[in-house]
Amino acid sequence: MMKNRENTRLILVSNRLPIVLKKIANEEYQVQSASGGLVTAMTPILKRDGGLWIGWAGNYSEESVEVEKLLKKEAEKLNYEYRSVDITLNEYKLYYKGFSNEVLWPLFHNVSVFCNFVPKYYEAFKKVNKKFAKTVIDELIDGDFIWVHDYHLINMAKELREEGIKNRVVFFLHIPFPPVETFNRLPWRLEIVEAMLSYDLIGFQTALDKKNFLEAVVSLIKRAVIEDEKLEISKITIDKKEHQVGVFPISIDYDEFHDRAKSKRVSKEVEKIKKEYHHQKIMLGVDRLDYSKGILQKLRAYWKLLDENHDLHKKVKLIQIIVPSRENIIKYIHLKSDIEQLVSEINGEFTQPGWIPIQYCYYSLNNTELLAYYRASDIAMVTPLRDGMNLVAKEYCATNINKNGVLILSEFAGTKDQFKDNALLVNPFDENSVVEAIKKALLMDEKEKQRRMKNMQKIVKEFDIYWWVDRFLKASKI
Ligand code: UDP
Ligand code: G6P
Repeated sequence: MMKNRENTRLILVSNRLPIVLKKIANEEYQVQSASGGLVTAMTPILKRDGGLWIGWAGNYSEESVEVEKLLKKEAEKLNYEYRSVDITLNEYKLYYKGFSNEVLWPLFHNVSVFCNFVPKYYEAFKKVNKKFAKTVIDELIDGDFIWVHDYHLINMAKELREEGIKNRVVFFLHIPFPPVETFNRLPWRLEIVEAMLSYDLIGFQTALDKKNFLEAVVSLIKRAVIEDEKLEISKITIDKKEHQVGVFPISIDYDEFHDRAKSKRVSKEVEKIKKEYHHQKIMLGVDRLDYSKGILQKLRAYWKLLDENHDLHKKVKLIQIIVPSRENIIKYIHLKSDIEQLVSEINGEFTQPGWIPIQYCYYSLNNTELLAYYRASDIAMVTPLRDGMNLVAKEYCATNINKNGVLILSEFAGTKDQFKDNALLVNPFDENSVVEAIKKALLMDEKEKQRRMKNMQKIVKEFDIYWWVDRFLKASKI
């Protein structure tokens, strides 16, 4: 068993492991990397400190695949171990697709009209959280520190406590926490808040998320007493039991991104991209397929820009990367076809010999490609309608070796708190605001670009993922 500082082993629990077993043929599985911010952020921590990562490997219990053997093989080259949680096809439908992604995800991203409040979903959510708790208990040794991540597993601490587990159990929510009037639409609002209060520490991305949570607690549990409400770490006391609630803006391994972006391999790719589009300013979007990312709104703003500014034709190019995600969920299936329709309408209307306004890619990039796109772009368009943090924005800055990129950033991304003075902030619901920001970015002088980018790099370097984890562990009293 691997142990980290002072013999305390970290057990990290998230719905998804950083690797996914993908069925490619009968009985044949390929190991792929999972995508998303949680995996990017947490991997360097386990690499540094060791520990055990418990989660779902993307297969169903009904399939005959030797999961543990494959995971063991993957972990051979690592400083930490994996353990998977069995999920049946039915649980996947009700707990993952259903409660996690048709209830909690839209509700917490403040689009409650997208929610399907199906009681069966909630029952499966509780059952699967119990399953995760049982898997943790199987592995648990005295002194282990259990760190649960994200909305899928809100109920885990409650389940662990019911089984008599006394270890410290803490939680970090990677996505936003909604305003109280949105949260209170949830039929199981009291149960969910009580489940969150089964953790010793509850971490949020931003001060707004923490404020929203405290308001939900006060509205639902009248005997809750809040102290240090305005500080970064507050205390809730209910019937003499204390809980810490804190703000921990998640980040990336700045040095690793920065150094890799400077590598020969990436530099060669950058040259290729620049050569291909040498007479055009490149605007880049990298988004998981998700309605929270505001991809349709971004495309409409770009359409407006081209419609109103013919002088920009042949001079700008939008490279929009969509990383496939949750492809079996109906809202995502519809979103994909809406995006593709809009891209083809824009390209259909404006394409000229030698110029296609949008380069659209629907696949996961390898690391070299991703870093090369970041480096080659003049402008990054990070315009989610709501986002817990948004690591793409931080990665864009960390990899901007020449310090001449401009970040266009949504007011509704968690990253806004750290970048508000240096990014060009936009309201993604307002096409005009996005159009104006693009025009400003295109006209910005070099000195101004350098100043803004240097400041953002300084922030990401200082408040990197190691700063984040050390702060979280300190607050967890580890
Ligand atoms: N990313 C990825 N595959 C890709 C392109 C990007 O996994 O093909 C990563 C990207 O580097 C970033 C993460 O996905 O670390 C996206 O995180 P973010 O916080 O921006 O949004 P999330 O997907 O977690 O909502
Ligand atoms: C976001 C969530 C993660 C999730 C990721 C990818 O980053 O905060 O918890 O893992 O999206 O989504 P998926 O449903 O494929 O795990």
